[in-house]
Amino acid sequence: MKKTIVLALVALLIVVSASAFVFAAKTVNIGCVIYKFDDTFMTAVRNNISAAAKEKGAKVDIVDAQNSQATCNDKVDLFITKKMNAMAINPVDRSACGVIIDKAKKANIPLVLFNREPFKEDIAKWNKVYYVGAIAAESGTMMGKLVVDYWKSHPEADKNKDGVLQYVMLKGEPGHQDAELRTEYSIKAVKDAGIKVDKLAEDTAMWDRVKGQEKMAAFLAANGDKIEAVFANNDDMALGAIEALKAAGYFKDGKYMPVASVDATAPALQALQDGTLLGTVLNDAKNQGRATLNLSYVLARGQKPTKANVGYEIVEGKYVWVPYKPITKANIKDAL
Ligand code: GAL
Ligand code: CA
Repeated sequence: MKKTIVLALVALLIVVSASAFVFAAKTVNIGCVIYKFDDTFMTAVRNNISAAAKEKGAKVDIVDAQNSQATCNDKVDLFITKKMNAMAINPVDRSACGVIIDKAKKANIPLVLFNREPFKEDIAKWNKVYYVGAIAAESGTMMGKLVVDYWKSHPEADKNKDGVLQYVMLKGEPGHQDAELRTEYSIKAVKDAGIKVDKLAEDTAMWDRVKGQEKMAAFLAANGDKIEAVFANNDDMALGAIEALKAAGYFKDGKYMPVASVDATAPALQALQDGTLLGTVLNDAKNQGRATLNLSYVLARGQKPTKANVGYEIVEGKYVWVPYKPITKANIKDAL
């Protein structure tokens, strides 16, 4: 009798400790840095990372680098001290990815970089570093085509009737792949469509709405009615530009300006509805956030990422590319 009780207790102990072990092994801790919380698009990405973590029952600690690469590096060090199972990092300066990769490699903590693309030579440094993002050049091409379509179907768009498109460009942060390539490829798409262009002005507004408004006001002051189109590397800058245009009398009494951008944020979709923004390109925050979290989760559990366990194709064993999509008033529901 005594023996059976002892045996039963031993068995119980084994079951309890085994399940405790399984439970402990299942708790996945992911450290995440966002370059700046005060960024409309990255806020949407961040919210989707949190939502995906919740679904998986993973713990994700998301912190703000406040637009400082030094702060971002400090947060990475902190996550390493805390022995996170994986890190998901949106760097401030993409040229600093090499340093982050070195830190992660030394600590052997798998790393997913996102939104700011590491240089090829940096991502090649280690087999446990990945990138989740979008192919920046494609968004530029799509943005350019939105303006091409408008120009070809609206002869009055050529205000001075010289057969040339006079434009201004609001650029994102210099050096950021999305700023450089959207600027280049939007204009390339216009030229490839056989349209001659004349750049009246270009300046960076650092992805920021208020700066977008200020720069656009300056462009208008210098060029007046010569401007025939506005390209902005993201919606926030475009929305700022639209404010400046409104203040200059646009969007009423038949005075119009085509403005094209990228992201398809909620306020930009509203501007499409209102008829102020001509078009935007869906930068898919939902899938970028989910892919980042899913990939980090798989890596945190020591598994090899595949399309089956991440839910997104892993290209060249390193990249998850989330597609863009052009959005106008006509297909607005595709972005909702
Ligand atoms: C871009 C996005 C911008 C800004 C930037 C931050 O992909 O279009 O609005 O969020 O990322 O790195
Ligand atoms: Ca013209």
